[in-house]
Amino acid sequence: MRVAVLKETAGGESRVAASPDTVKKLVSYGAEVAIETGAGTASGFRDADYEAAGATIAGDAAAAAGTADAVLLVRRPEGERLAAIRAGAVVLATMDPYGEAAAVQAMADARIAAFSMELMPRITRAQVMDVLSSQANLAGYRAVIDAAAEYGRGFPMMMTAAGTVPAARLFVMGAGVAGLQAIATARRLGAVVTATDVRPAAKEQVESLGAKFIAVEDEEFKQAETAGGYAKEMSAEYRAKQAQLVASHIAKQDIVITTALIPGRPAPKLVTREMVESMKAGSVVVDIAVDRGGNCELSQPDQVVEHGGVRIVGHRNVPGRLPATASALYAKNLLAFLETMIDKGEKKIAPNWDDELVRATLLTRDGAVVHPSFQPAAA
Ligand code: NAI
Repeated sequence: MRVAVLKETAGGESRVAASPDTVKKLVSYGAEVAIETGAGTASGFRDADYEAAGATIAGDAAAAAGTADAVLLVRRPEGERLAAIRAGAVVLATMDPYGEAAAVQAMADARIAAFSMELMPRITRAQVMDVLSSQANLAGYRAVIDAAAEYGRGFPMMMTAAGTVPAARLFVMGAGVAGLQAIATARRLGAVVTATDVRPAAKEQVESLGAKFIAVEDEEFKQAETAGGYAKEMSAEYRAKQAQLVASHIAKQDIVITTALIPGRPAPKLVTREMVESMKAGSVVVDIAVDRGGNCELSQPDQVVEHGGVRIVGHRNVPGRLPATASALYAKNLLAFLETMIDKGEKKIAPNWDDELVRATLLTRDGAVVHPSFQPAAA
Protein backbone atom coordinates (compact mmCIF):
# COMPACT_ATOMS: atom_id res chain seq x y z
CA MET A 1 0.00 0.00 0.00
CA ARG A 2 1.66 3.19 -1.24
CA VAL A 3 0.53 6.72 -0.35
CA ALA A 4 1.98 9.82 -2.01
CA VAL A 5 1.85 13.45 -0.91
CA LEU A 6 2.63 16.04 -3.56
CA LYS A 7 3.92 19.58 -3.25
CA GLU A 8 1.21 22.13 -4.08
CA THR A 9 1.90 24.25 -7.14
CA ALA A 10 -1.34 26.24 -7.58
CA GLY A 11 -1.14 30.02 -7.07
CA GLY A 12 0.82 30.40 -3.86
CA GLU A 13 -0.81 27.50 -2.01
CA SER A 14 1.04 27.24 1.29
CA ARG A 15 -0.68 24.19 2.73
CA VAL A 16 0.22 20.51 2.46
CA ALA A 17 -2.04 17.46 2.64
CA ALA A 18 -0.08 15.44 5.22
CA SER A 19 1.73 16.26 8.43
CA PRO A 20 4.43 14.21 10.14
CA ASP A 21 1.68 13.09 12.56
CA THR A 22 -0.59 11.74 9.83
CA VAL A 23 2.37 10.13 8.06
CA LYS A 24 3.25 8.27 11.27
CA LYS A 25 -0.31 6.95 11.45
CA LEU A 26 -0.29 5.77 7.83
CA VAL A 27 3.05 4.04 8.34
CA SER A 28 1.57 2.25 11.38
CA TYR A 29 -1.10 0.80 9.05
CA GLY A 30 1.64 -0.63 6.85
CA ALA A 31 1.68 2.12 4.21
CA GLU A 32 4.82 3.18 2.38
CA VAL A 33 4.53 6.96 2.27
CA ALA A 34 6.37 9.06 -0.32
CA ILE A 35 6.55 12.84 0.11
CA GLU A 36 7.55 15.06 -2.79
CA THR A 37 10.58 17.03 -1.64
CA GLY A 38 9.69 20.41 -0.16
CA ALA A 39 5.96 19.60 0.08
CA GLY A 40 5.74 20.79 3.69
CA THR A 41 8.24 23.66 3.61
CA ALA A 42 5.68 26.48 3.48
CA SER A 43 3.80 24.86 6.39
CA GLY A 44 6.89 24.51 8.53
CA PHE A 45 7.33 20.74 8.00
CA ARG A 46 10.79 19.78 6.76
CA ASP A 47 11.60 16.77 4.61
CA ALA A 48 13.56 15.50 7.61
CA ASP A 49 10.44 15.70 9.82
CA TYR A 50 8.55 13.48 7.39
CA GLU A 51 11.50 11.09 7.16
CA ALA A 52 11.58 10.86 10.94
CA ALA A 53 7.89 9.93 10.80
CA GLY A 54 8.70 7.05 8.45
CA ALA A 55 8.22 8.55 4.98
CA THR A 56 10.65 8.54 2.08
CA ILE A 57 11.33 11.74 0.14
CA ALA A 58 10.79 11.69 -3.62
CA GLY A 59 12.58 14.06 -5.99
CA ASP A 60 9.51 15.02 -8.01
CA ALA A 61 5.78 14.37 -8.41
CA ALA A 62 6.23 11.46 -10.80
CA ALA A 63 8.65 9.72 -8.45
CA ALA A 64 6.22 10.18 -5.54
CA ALA A 65 2.94 9.36 -7.28
CA GLY A 66 3.88 7.10 -10.21
CA THR A 67 3.24 3.92 -8.23
CA ALA A 68 0.97 5.24 -5.47
CA ASP A 69 -2.38 3.65 -4.61
CA ALA A 70 -3.52 6.86 -2.92
CA VAL A 71 -2.45 10.47 -3.48
CA LEU A 72 -3.14 13.27 -0.99
CA LEU A 73 -3.41 16.87 -2.16
CA VAL A 74 -4.80 20.24 -1.12
CA ARG A 75 -5.81 21.32 -4.65
CA ARG A 76 -7.09 19.45 -7.68
CA PRO A 77 -4.30 17.88 -9.76
CA GLU A 78 -3.94 19.28 -13.27
CA GLY A 79 -1.51 19.03 -16.19
CA GLU A 80 1.82 17.47 -15.26
CA ARG A 81 0.70 16.76 -11.70
CA LEU A 82 -2.30 14.83 -12.96
CA ALA A 83 -0.17 12.99 -15.51
CA ALA A 84 2.19 11.95 -12.70
CA ILE A 85 -0.56 9.96 -10.96
CA ARG A 86 -1.08 6.39 -12.07
CA ALA A 87 -4.46 5.25 -13.43
CA GLY A 88 -6.63 3.66 -10.76
CA ALA A 89 -5.18 5.68 -7.86
CA VAL A 90 -7.46 7.14 -5.20
CA VAL A 91 -6.90 10.92 -5.01
CA LEU A 92 -8.19 13.04 -2.12
CA ALA A 93 -8.22 16.86 -2.48
CA THR A 94 -10.45 19.91 -2.43
CA MET A 95 -11.38 19.51 -6.09
CA ASP A 96 -13.43 22.71 -6.45
CA PRO A 97 -15.58 21.01 -9.11
CA TYR A 98 -18.38 23.56 -9.59
CA GLY A 99 -18.23 25.08 -13.07
CA GLU A 100 -15.01 23.18 -13.78
CA ALA A 101 -16.34 20.51 -16.15
CA ALA A 102 -13.16 20.33 -18.25
CA ALA A 103 -10.95 19.81 -15.20
CA VAL A 104 -13.28 17.10 -13.85
CA GLN A 105 -13.29 15.40 -17.26
CA ALA A 106 -9.48 15.53 -17.34
CA MET A 107 -9.41 13.58 -14.05
CA ALA A 108 -11.84 11.05 -15.51
CA ASP A 109 -9.62 10.73 -18.60
CA ALA A 110 -6.62 10.14 -16.34
CA ARG A 111 -8.66 7.23 -14.89
CA ILE A 112 -8.11 8.30 -11.29
CA ALA A 113 -10.70 7.91 -8.52
CA ALA A 114 -11.00 11.61 -7.63
CA PHE A 115 -12.65 12.44 -4.29
CA SER A 116 -13.80 16.00 -3.64
CA MET A 117 -13.41 16.57 0.10
CA GLU A 118 -15.69 19.62 0.17
CA LEU A 119 -18.65 17.44 -0.84
CA MET A 120 -18.39 15.47 2.40
CA PRO A 121 -21.87 15.16 3.95
CA ARG A 122 -22.31 16.99 7.25
CA ILE A 123 -23.27 13.95 9.26
CA THR A 124 -21.84 12.99 12.64
CA ARG A 125 -19.61 10.21 11.29
CA ALA A 126 -17.97 12.59 8.82
CA GLN A 127 -17.34 15.57 11.12
CA VAL A 128 -13.70 14.58 11.51
CA MET A 129 -13.38 14.66 7.68
CA ASP A 130 -15.03 18.07 7.22
CA VAL A 131 -12.38 20.17 5.48
CA LEU A 132 -14.77 23.09 4.98
CA SER A 133 -15.22 23.41 8.74
CA SER A 134 -11.58 22.90 9.70
CA GLN A 135 -10.41 25.53 7.22
CA ALA A 136 -13.30 28.00 7.64
CA ASN A 137 -12.73 28.12 11.38
CA LEU A 138 -9.15 29.27 10.81
CA ALA A 139 -10.23 31.73 8.10
CA GLY A 140 -12.65 33.36 10.56
CA TYR A 141 -9.90 33.76 13.13
CA ARG A 142 -7.39 35.08 10.62
CA ALA A 143 -9.89 37.57 9.15
CA VAL A 144 -10.07 39.32 12.52
CA ILE A 145 -6.28 39.33 12.88
CA ASP A 146 -5.99 40.83 9.37
CA ALA A 147 -8.63 43.43 10.25
CA ALA A 148 -6.77 44.35 13.43
CA ALA A 149 -3.53 44.74 11.45
CA GLU A 150 -5.13 47.11 8.92
CA TYR A 151 -7.11 49.10 11.47
CA GLY A 152 -5.28 52.15 12.77
CA ARG A 153 -6.86 51.84 16.21
CA GLY A 154 -7.21 49.27 18.97
CA PHE A 155 -10.16 46.94 19.48
CA PRO A 156 -10.91 47.22 23.23
CA MET A 157 -12.25 50.18 25.08
CA MET A 158 -9.32 51.68 26.95
CA MET A 159 -9.59 54.16 29.82
CA THR A 160 -6.23 55.79 30.17
CA ALA A 161 -4.85 58.90 31.81
CA ALA A 162 -4.58 60.40 28.34
CA GLY A 163 -8.24 59.79 27.58
CA THR A 164 -10.81 57.12 26.87
CA VAL A 165 -10.65 55.16 23.62
CA PRO A 166 -13.93 53.61 22.45
CA ALA A 167 -14.20 49.93 21.55
CA ALA A 168 -14.18 49.06 17.85
CA ARG A 169 -17.57 48.16 16.36
CA LEU A 170 -17.25 45.03 14.29
CA PHE A 171 -19.96 43.50 12.11
CA VAL A 172 -19.75 39.92 10.83
CA MET A 173 -21.80 39.01 7.74
CA GLY A 174 -22.41 35.29 7.46
CA ALA A 175 -22.41 33.45 10.78
CA GLY A 176 -21.38 29.96 9.67
CA VAL A 177 -18.21 28.28 10.87
CA ALA A 178 -15.93 31.16 9.80
CA GLY A 179 -18.28 33.89 11.00
CA LEU A 180 -18.76 32.33 14.43
CA GLN A 181 -14.99 32.05 14.93
CA ALA A 182 -14.63 35.66 13.77
CA ILE A 183 -17.20 36.72 16.37
CA ALA A 184 -15.44 34.80 19.13
CA THR A 185 -12.03 36.18 18.15
CA ALA A 186 -13.25 39.78 17.88
CA ARG A 187 -14.97 39.50 21.26
CA ARG A 188 -11.75 38.24 22.84
CA LEU A 189 -9.95 41.28 21.44
CA GLY A 190 -12.59 43.54 23.00
CA ALA A 191 -14.66 44.69 20.01
CA VAL A 192 -18.41 45.33 20.21
CA VAL A 193 -19.69 42.66 17.82
CA THR A 194 -22.86 42.32 15.75
CA ALA A 195 -23.59 39.71 13.10
CA THR A 196 -26.08 38.74 10.44
CA ASP A 197 -27.03 35.60 8.53
CA VAL A 198 -29.95 34.37 6.46
CA ARG A 199 -30.26 31.11 8.40
CA PRO A 200 -32.51 31.43 11.45
CA ALA A 201 -30.42 28.88 13.38
CA ALA A 202 -27.55 31.36 13.32
CA LYS A 203 -29.36 33.81 15.60
CA GLU A 204 -29.02 31.72 18.73
CA GLN A 205 -25.41 30.81 17.91
CA VAL A 206 -24.49 34.47 17.45
CA GLU A 207 -26.17 35.44 20.69
CA SER A 208 -24.54 32.59 22.59
CA LEU A 209 -21.15 34.13 21.67
CA GLY A 210 -22.20 37.47 23.13
CA ALA A 211 -22.86 39.28 19.85
CA LYS A 212 -26.06 40.98 18.71
CA PHE A 213 -28.00 39.49 15.78
CA ILE A 214 -29.12 41.84 12.99
CA ALA A 215 -31.55 40.51 10.33
CA VAL A 216 -34.91 40.89 8.67
CA GLU A 217 -36.75 38.03 10.40
CA ASP A 218 -39.71 37.46 8.05
CA GLU A 219 -41.39 34.24 6.75
CA GLU A 220 -38.73 33.66 4.08
CA PHE A 221 -35.99 33.97 6.69
CA LYS A 222 -37.68 31.27 8.78
CA GLN A 223 -37.44 28.84 5.79
CA ALA A 224 -33.96 29.83 4.68
CA GLU A 225 -31.97 26.73 5.63
CA THR A 226 -31.52 23.57 3.53
CA ALA A 227 -31.76 20.12 5.09
CA GLY A 228 -27.95 20.01 4.84
CA GLY A 229 -27.69 23.10 7.05
CA TYR A 230 -26.58 25.47 4.28
CA ALA A 231 -28.01 28.81 3.17
CA LYS A 232 -30.38 29.07 0.21
CA GLU A 233 -30.16 31.83 -2.35
CA MET A 234 -32.65 34.43 -1.10
CA SER A 235 -35.34 36.18 -3.18
CA ALA A 236 -34.72 39.62 -4.67
CA GLU A 237 -37.31 41.10 -2.24
CA TYR A 238 -35.60 39.63 0.80
CA ARG A 239 -32.19 40.79 -0.38
CA ALA A 240 -33.53 44.32 -0.85
CA LYS A 241 -34.98 44.44 2.68
CA GLN A 242 -31.84 42.93 4.15
CA ALA A 243 -29.65 45.38 2.21
CA GLN A 244 -31.58 48.33 3.60
CA LEU A 245 -31.21 47.17 7.20
CA VAL A 246 -27.54 46.30 6.67
CA ALA A 247 -26.81 49.64 4.96
CA SER A 248 -27.89 51.70 7.95
CA HIS A 249 -25.97 49.36 10.27
CA ILE A 250 -22.73 49.35 8.27
CA ALA A 251 -22.56 53.15 8.29
CA LYS A 252 -21.95 52.92 12.07
CA GLN A 253 -19.31 50.17 11.94
CA ASP A 254 -15.51 50.40 12.12
CA ILE A 255 -14.88 46.91 10.76
CA VAL A 256 -16.95 44.61 8.57
CA ILE A 257 -15.97 40.97 8.05
CA THR A 258 -17.82 39.11 5.31
CA THR A 259 -17.92 35.31 5.13
CA ALA A 260 -21.21 34.59 3.29
CA LEU A 261 -21.26 31.62 0.91
CA ILE A 262 -23.83 29.47 -0.86
CA PRO A 263 -22.51 26.05 -1.95
CA GLY A 264 -22.03 25.80 -5.72
CA ARG A 265 -23.01 29.44 -6.34
CA PRO A 266 -21.08 32.70 -6.51
CA ALA A 267 -20.83 34.46 -3.15
CA PRO A 268 -23.77 36.85 -2.57
CA LYS A 269 -22.89 40.54 -3.01
CA LEU A 270 -23.76 42.07 0.35
CA VAL A 271 -21.59 45.19 0.70
CA THR A 272 -22.09 47.75 -2.07
CA ARG A 273 -19.90 50.66 -3.06
CA GLU A 274 -22.39 53.03 -1.39
CA MET A 275 -22.17 51.08 1.87
CA VAL A 276 -18.38 51.32 1.81
CA GLU A 277 -18.67 55.06 1.11
CA SER A 278 -20.98 55.44 4.12
CA MET A 279 -18.21 54.19 6.45
CA LYS A 280 -15.86 56.49 8.35
CA ALA A 281 -12.29 57.00 7.11
CA GLY A 282 -10.02 54.42 8.71
CA SER A 283 -12.66 51.68 8.62
CA VAL A 284 -11.77 48.22 7.34
CA VAL A 285 -13.68 45.60 5.35
CA VAL A 286 -12.24 42.08 5.26
CA ASP A 287 -13.87 39.94 2.56
CA ILE A 288 -12.95 36.29 2.99
CA ALA A 289 -15.40 35.22 0.24
CA VAL A 290 -13.13 36.57 -2.55
CA ASP A 291 -12.26 33.05 -3.70
CA ARG A 292 -15.93 32.73 -4.73
CA GLY A 293 -16.27 36.23 -6.20
CA GLY A 294 -16.48 38.20 -2.95
CA ASN A 295 -19.25 39.64 -0.76
CA CYS A 296 -18.08 43.24 -1.23
CA GLU A 297 -18.45 44.97 -4.58
CA LEU A 298 -15.05 46.63 -4.21
CA SER A 299 -12.88 43.78 -3.00
CA GLN A 300 -10.08 42.62 -5.29
CA PRO A 301 -8.44 39.19 -4.99
CA ASP A 302 -5.13 39.33 -3.12
CA GLN A 303 -5.24 43.09 -2.69
CA VAL A 304 -5.87 45.67 -0.02
CA VAL A 305 -7.89 48.34 -1.85
CA GLU A 306 -8.25 51.89 -0.47
CA HIS A 307 -11.58 53.50 -1.24
CA GLY A 308 -12.35 56.89 0.26
CA GLY A 309 -10.22 56.13 3.30
CA VAL A 310 -11.72 52.65 3.82
CA ARG A 311 -9.46 49.64 3.39
CA ILE A 312 -10.97 46.58 1.72
CA VAL A 313 -8.92 43.46 2.35
CA GLY A 314 -9.33 40.64 -0.19
CA HIS A 315 -6.81 37.95 0.66
CA ARG A 316 -7.53 34.71 -1.16
CA ASN A 317 -7.04 31.37 0.56
CA VAL A 318 -7.29 32.84 4.07
CA PRO A 319 -6.72 29.47 5.81
CA GLY A 320 -3.42 29.34 3.89
CA ARG A 321 -2.38 32.43 5.88
CA LEU A 322 -2.08 30.09 8.87
CA PRO A 323 -0.39 27.29 6.92
CA ALA A 324 0.94 25.23 9.82
CA THR A 325 -2.37 24.92 11.63
CA ALA A 326 -4.42 24.70 8.44
CA SER A 327 -2.23 21.87 7.13
CA ALA A 328 -2.25 19.98 10.43
CA LEU A 329 -6.06 20.00 10.54
CA TYR A 330 -6.56 19.39 6.82
CA ALA A 331 -4.15 16.45 6.99
CA LYS A 332 -6.19 14.96 9.86
CA ASN A 333 -9.40 15.36 7.82
CA LEU A 334 -7.83 13.49 4.89
CA LEU A 335 -6.36 10.79 7.09
CA ALA A 336 -9.75 10.16 8.69
CA PHE A 337 -11.36 9.64 5.28
CA LEU A 338 -8.50 7.53 3.91
CA GLU A 339 -8.69 5.33 7.03
CA THR A 340 -12.22 4.29 6.02
CA MET A 341 -10.73 2.95 2.75
CA ILE A 342 -7.84 1.01 4.25
CA ASP A 343 -8.18 -2.73 4.61
CA LYS A 344 -5.95 -3.09 7.65
CA GLY A 345 -5.76 -6.89 7.45
CA GLU A 346 -4.70 -6.99 3.80
CA LYS A 347 -2.80 -3.69 4.12
CA LYS A 348 -4.32 -2.22 0.98
CA ILE A 349 -6.53 0.63 -0.20
CA ALA A 350 -9.96 -0.85 -0.87
CA PRO A 351 -12.77 1.74 -0.91
CA ASN A 352 -16.29 0.50 -0.32
CA TRP A 353 -17.85 2.07 -3.40
CA ASP A 354 -21.32 1.81 -1.84
CA ASP A 355 -20.39 3.76 1.32
CA GLU A 356 -22.43 6.96 1.60
CA LEU A 357 -19.32 9.11 2.14
CA VAL A 358 -17.66 7.60 -0.93
CA ARG A 359 -20.75 8.08 -3.06
CA ALA A 360 -21.17 11.69 -1.92
CA THR A 361 -17.59 12.71 -2.69
CA LEU A 362 -16.44 10.52 -5.62
CA LEU A 363 -16.26 12.59 -8.83
CA THR A 364 -14.57 10.24 -11.30
CA ARG A 365 -13.75 6.55 -11.57
CA ASP A 366 -12.68 4.10 -14.29
CA GLY A 367 -12.56 6.79 -16.95
CA ALA A 368 -15.96 8.36 -16.27
CA VAL A 369 -17.45 11.24 -14.31
CA VAL A 370 -19.60 9.32 -11.81
CA HIS A 371 -20.98 12.04 -9.50
CA PRO A 372 -24.62 12.82 -10.37
CA SER A 373 -24.14 16.59 -9.88
CA PHE A 374 -21.20 16.80 -12.30
CA GLN A 375 -22.35 14.69 -15.25
CA PRO A 376 -21.06 16.18 -18.52
CA ALA A 377 -24.69 16.74 -19.72
CA ALA A 378 -25.69 18.55 -16.50
CA ALA A 379 -22.54 20.69 -16.66
P1 NAI B 1 -20.90 28.51 4.36
O1 NAI B 1 -19.42 28.62 4.41
O2 NAI B 1 -21.52 27.80 3.22
O3 NAI B 1 -21.53 29.99 4.43
C1 NAI B 1 -21.15 30.89 5.45
C2 NAI B 1 -22.37 31.54 6.04
O4 NAI B 1 -22.90 32.51 5.13
C3 NAI B 1 -23.52 30.59 6.33
O5 NAI B 1 -23.86 30.68 7.70
C4 NAI B 1 -24.64 31.09 5.43
O6 NAI B 1 -25.92 30.90 6.01
C5 NAI B 1 -24.29 32.55 5.30
N1 NAI B 1 -24.95 33.27 4.21
C6 NAI B 1 -25.23 32.86 2.95
N2 NAI B 1 -25.86 33.81 2.25
C7 NAI B 1 -25.98 34.89 3.09
C8 NAI B 1 -26.54 36.20 2.95
N3 NAI B 1 -27.13 36.58 1.82
N4 NAI B 1 -26.49 37.02 4.02
C9 NAI B 1 -25.92 36.63 5.17
N5 NAI B 1 -25.37 35.41 5.36
C10 NAI B 1 -25.40 34.55 4.34
O7 NAI B 1 -21.48 27.88 5.69
P2 NAI B 1 -20.73 27.01 6.79
O8 NAI B 1 -19.85 27.85 7.58
O9 NAI B 1 -20.14 25.85 6.10
O10 NAI B 1 -21.91 26.54 7.75
C11 NAI B 1 -23.22 26.22 7.32
C12 NAI B 1 -23.95 25.52 8.45
O11 NAI B 1 -23.50 24.20 8.60
C13 NAI B 1 -23.81 26.16 9.82
O12 NAI B 1 -25.04 26.06 10.49
C14 NAI B 1 -22.84 25.28 10.50
O13 NAI B 1 -22.95 25.35 11.91
C15 NAI B 1 -23.28 23.94 9.98
N6 NAI B 1 -22.27 22.93 10.13
C16 NAI B 1 -22.63 21.66 10.48
C17 NAI B 1 -21.69 20.68 10.62
C18 NAI B 1 -22.08 19.30 10.99
O14 NAI B 1 -21.27 18.44 10.97
N7 NAI B 1 -23.31 19.04 11.30
C19 NAI B 1 -20.28 20.95 10.41
C20 NAI B 1 -20.00 22.30 10.03
C21 NAI B 1 -20.98 23.23 9.91
